[in-house]
Amino acid sequence: MMRITSLKRMKTILMGISITTVLLAATGCSQGSYPIDIFYEMHYQDSYKSHEPPRLSVPDSAVPWYDAPKATSFTDDAKHMYDVNCSMCHGVSGQGDGPVLDSMTSKYGYQPVVTPDLTSDQAKSLGVAGVQGFIVNGLQVMPSFAKLMTEEEMALTANYVVNCLQVQQPEACK
Ligand code: HEC
Repeated sequence: MMRITSLKRMKTILMGISITTVLLAATGCSQGSYPIDIFYEMHYQDSYKSHEPPRLSVPDSAVPWYDAPKATSFTDDAKHMYDVNCSMCHGVSGQGDGPVLDSMTSKYGYQPVVTPDLTSDQAKSLGVAGVQGFIVNGLQVMPSFAKLMTEEEMALTANYVVNCLQVQQPEACK
């Protein structure tokens, strides 16, 4: 008699567990919403333990023992400016073979109106001011950078195109 009731109880408990599991799976897997709101804004917050100082701010007295990592966005480095803004189309060495332009021409049939090869004689005839003109105005698929870069950054980048990529002065390639 004892055994049968405990078996019955066991059965009920197991049923309960399996129904809960099925319900959780059904609601949790529905797409695009969180019916059970366990994620509420968690991903926007830093997480601290109680009485723990914020981990992201460094005490003023801290002494770095290794070189601070360079920010991913900085504007005093001509090579970086070129690599970030131009190389996806014009290629790292300026030959017009960047992957973005490559897919524009091969996948979408774009035909450049002048050669995108920045080391061509045509591009060499532009000079620093001419290259900067292209950066300011853009042309067809090439965007205008006038609102994206400062005057100084555009000059730095134009100088890099001419003196590093075209004339190949090692000191201009930094
Ligand atoms: C979205 C791709 C793209 C980006 C980004 C881009 N360009 Fe261009 N650029 C082109 C294409 C394509 C041409 C050829 C003209 C055309 O069809 O638009 C061109 C033309 C030029 C020319 C004239 C070349 C010649 O033969 O006279 C210069 C100079 C130039 N780009 C410099 C730059 C510089 C510097 C940057 C970065 C600040 C840059 N471009 C960013 C696609 C791009």
